[in-house]
Amino acid sequence: MNSVPPMEERVVLGVESSCDDTSMALLRGNKLLGQVDAVQLVHTDFGGVVPELASRAHQVHIGPVMDALLEQTGLDWADIDAVAYTRGPGLHGSLLVGSAWARSVSWALGVPLLPVHHMRAHILAHWVEHPAHDKNNGVRSAAPNLPAMGLTVSGGHTQLVRIDSPWDMEVVGETLDDAAGEAFDKVAKWVGLPYPGGPEVDRRAALGDPAAFTFSKPVVTGLDFSFSGLKTSVLSTLRKSIDAGRVFDESAINDVCAALQQTLVEMLVDRLEQAAIQFDCKSIAIQGGVSANSSLRKAALALGEKQGWSVHIPQSICCTDNGAMVAMAGQFLAEREQWGRLDDAPLARWPGLG
Ligand code: KG4
Ligand code: ZN
Repeated sequence: MNSVPPMEERVVLGVESSCDDTSMALLRGNKLLGQVDAVQLVHTDFGGVVPELASRAHQVHIGPVMDALLEQTGLDWADIDAVAYTRGPGLHGSLLVGSAWARSVSWALGVPLLPVHHMRAHILAHWVEHPAHDKNNGVRSAAPNLPAMGLTVSGGHTQLVRIDSPWDMEVVGETLDDAAGEAFDKVAKWVGLPYPGGPEVDRRAALGDPAAFTFSKPVVTGLDFSFSGLKTSVLSTLRKSIDAGRVFDESAINDVCAALQQTLVEMLVDRLEQAAIQFDCKSIAIQGGVSANSSLRKAALALGEKQGWSVHIPQSICCTDNGAMVAMAGQFLAEREQWGRLDDAPLARWPGLG
C-alpha cells in the first residue's frame, strides 16, 4: 500500500450510498474540490424510498457519478490517496453498492480504506471548507467552537450529540420512535404532497397560517424526542376537520404545513436549548437533511442570539446525504490511522457514532 500524505495534502474520495442519494466528493485536507450527487427519482411514485429500487439505482449511478466527479475536479484516479465510504447505518442493499465500489477502488489503486459512520459524518460536515463559504443565510458554516451541542435531524435519525472534538462525541438524547424528517414526509404524504415532503412543507409553510391548526406535542422527559404521537395528533385533527366539513384546498394544505413546521421546530429547538445548557455548550450545530429547513434555521439563529451562542449549519449541499461529509470523516479517521479492511461488511445497524 502507498504511504499516505499529511492531511493538508491528502486527497480523499468520499462515497455515500446509505439511502437514496449516490454522492461522491473529493476533499484535499478539509477543502472541497468537487461533489457530484445523483438523486433517485424512482421513489417519487411510491411516496417513500423502496430499498430494492434504491440499491438498483445506486448500481446504475455509481460509475457515472465517479466519472463526472473526476471531470468536474480535473483530477485523475492516481491523485486519490485514500477512499472513505459510508459503512453504515443505512439500507443494507444501498450500503453494499457504495462499499463494494469503495473497496474495489481501494484495491485497484493500492490506497487505504476509511469506513465511516453515517451519523458521525453528518456532524463532521461542519468541518468541510466550501468555496461558497459565506453564502449561508447568515449562518456560519465554519467548524463549531467546541464543546458544541449538535442536533442531527434527518429522515432516519434525530439525535442530540455533545461534540468535544472531531473524534470525541457522544449521543445525549435521541428520538424514541420516528425521526423528525419522517414526520415531515409522512404528513406531507397525507395531504397529497410529493416525496420527499420536507422541502415542500417548508415552501408551503411560508404561505400558510400556523395558528389555523393546533397539534399536540408528546410529553417526553430528559433529552429524548418522540414524533409518532405528533403524527397521530395531526391525523386525528385532520380527520375531525374533514368530518366537520372543512375542504382541504390549497390554502388548508398550506395551513397544515405551517402548523406542522412550527410545532416540529419548537420541539427540536426547545430540546436543543435544554441540552446545550445542561452540557454547558456555548455553541450549537445543526446538521442532516432537515437542517435545510428555513424555519429551523431562523429559530436556531434566534436561540443563538438570545443565549449569546454561536450557531453553525453546513452549506445546503452538505446538509442532505453527501460525499463531502464522508470524505471529511475519512480525513479524521486517517489522522488516527483507523484504516478499514477489504473484508469489512456493511453495517445496516451500527449503534452509537462508530
Ligand atoms: O439527511 P438526509 O438527506 O437523509 C437521511 O439520512 O435521512 O435527510 C432527508 C430528510 C427527508 O426527510 C427530507 O424531507 C428532509 O430531510 N428535508 C427537509 C428539508 N429538506 C430536506 N425537511 C424540512 N425542510 C426542508 N427544507
Ligand atoms: Zn443522512
